[in-house]
Amino acid sequence: RRPIGVAVLGMGNVGTEVVRNLNDKAADLQARVGAPVELRGVAVRDLARPRGAVDSAVLTDDAESLVTRDDIDVVVELIGGIEPPRTLIRTALQSGKSVITANKALMAVHSGELSEAAAASNVDLYFEAAVAGAIPVIRPLTQSLAGDSVNRVAGIVNGTTNYILSEMDETGAAYEDVLAEAVRLGYAEADPTADVEGHDAAAKAAILASIAFHSRVTANDVYCEGISAITADDLAAAKKFDCTVKLLSICERIEADGVEKISARVYPALIPFEHPLATVNGAFNAVVVEAEDAGRLMFYGQGAGGAPTASAVLGDLVMAARNRVNGGRGPLESTYASLPIAPIDDVQTRY
Ligand code: HSE
Repeated sequence: RRPIGVAVLGMGNVGTEVVRNLNDKAADLQARVGAPVELRGVAVRDLARPRGAVDSAVLTDDAESLVTRDDIDVVVELIGGIEPPRTLIRTALQSGKSVITANKALMAVHSGELSEAAAASNVDLYFEAAVAGAIPVIRPLTQSLAGDSVNRVAGIVNGTTNYILSEMDETGAAYEDVLAEAVRLGYAEADPTADVEGHDAAAKAAILASIAFHSRVTANDVYCEGISAITADDLAAAKKFDCTVKLLSICERIEADGVEKISARVYPALIPFEHPLATVNGAFNAVVVEAEDAGRLMFYGQGAGGAPTASAVLGDLVMAARNRVNGGRGPLESTYASLPIAPIDDVQTRY
């Protein structure tokens, strides 16, 4: 079988783990894909920086050329942010490459145009790693539950803020110290403001709402409050009510004024100790899905960090590579509803 050529864009926490896996697990990946999976290019910003075991022949600072190269079949975008990833992904798709991305900020705003570009070129655009790190949520929502009707997706989808809140609660450590530790552990975004102000969770809520309700929801549609104003006193006060505080993302299909609408919101909420979400601590995430026939499902696991997020990227990569070996593309998200967004007048802070 013809090998599958892979390009990785970006070598941060996640990119480094993906590259390591591609080298260390080459034999396993080949067996799962049905063809050799070859790392043929790694785009970095600073070529002078040492990159460990990466063969210097594959390193480049020219991502634009890499995404159109004939020997590349799959592009893995792990740069983050809107540009240049938006242009690079669009160019890669238009050049017939399948694309894997972990970029929630981008997918929360531009998934419509990028999905159309993927469909036009008959290639895959997969983004399991964009929401909740290692936890499979995109594939269950788009495939396993494709025959059901999802009414609600709610949970903890930002590891950094969950780590901060649980550490402050358990050890009484100061907010700034715990945030610095979350950055050191590789949980936080390049600019952790996106985590603590709720923007990262809001991007993930937009992605979840879009795929769960087959509609188009963007980050701007999501009501968003972060945790930067939460103090140790707030956590102590919550305890008096047998509650803990978690940053929740809640996406619901609701009926307002006789019209079906989507409500998507992110805010710190009081969770009663007996609720399963109250036991989700550290950088762990949990997503509760409520579907008409399936009932309630809960997905739990590591939501941030290089290795767990790389696991989701690698899963997508195997799927996309396998689809190419079989001469096609896999199932995509389906957007057919165009539901209005419900305004948020009042957030209920108890979950
Ligand atoms: N900064 C993100 C988080 C990384 O803390 O959850 C995973 O998307």
